[in-house]
Amino acid sequence: RPGAQEWVPPDPSLDDLRAAAPGCRGCELYRDATQVVFSTGPARARIMLVGEQPGDREDREGEPFVGPAGMLLGRALDAAGIRREDAYLTNAVKHFRFEQRGKRRIHAKPSVGHVVACHPWLEAEFEVVRPRVVVCLGATAARAVLGGEVRIADVRGKLMTEGRGGTALPAPAIVTEHPSAVLRVREAPARDAAFERLVDDLAAAAEVAR
Ligand code: URA
Ligand code: SF4
Repeated sequence: RPGAQEWVPPDPSLDDLRAAAPGCRGCELYRDATQVVFSTGPARARIMLVGEQPGDREDREGEPFVGPAGMLLGRALDAAGIRREDAYLTNAVKHFRFEQRGKRRIHAKPSVGHVVACHPWLEAEFEVVRPRVVVCLGATAARAVLGGEVRIADVRGKLMTEGRGGTALPAPAIVTEHPSAVLRVREAPARDAAFERLVDDLAAAAEVAR
């Protein structure tokens, strides 16, 4: 059976998970990536943020949210009154998926199959961290956490207490835009507005986590 399950240690601590993740062969993405990018943040975090997958910089450095989207997320967390080092930051998929174009590596969206294959890690993280609130950054994270397709515009900023089809969630969840979507807005005023909406959603999550 494909998927990460057989690489997830039983009854793990966060350190156990971080130690085991580099060995994962739950899907083919490990083959072309530089390394696994697991998570940062304390095991006792009240707020957990879930992104899509590591980007180019994250893949090279082995840490989530250290590239341009991560910098923007850091500013948004700041503006929302959340200390970055108090938050648990992770991704729906733990290896970078990309297409090679000459010397450049172009981000490729992970497929539903990759999200499903990697889900045992995310589930184990929920069990270890037991956050009070989960922030889903973008549609891929929302799918991973809520267990199905959502349109960001329909659900963003709302406190979700159950997943698709009424499934139980590991914690109440708030869906918001991915920081890279904010970066892609071309006009400065619209980009600033998108940034403020991200900050508002993070502030709403912080309120739940208090
Ligand atoms: N985008 C993500 O979703 N996660 C990262 O770690 C970096 C960029
Ligand atoms: Fe394992 Fe996830 Fe990496 Fe696939 S992306 S090899 S499931 S850690």
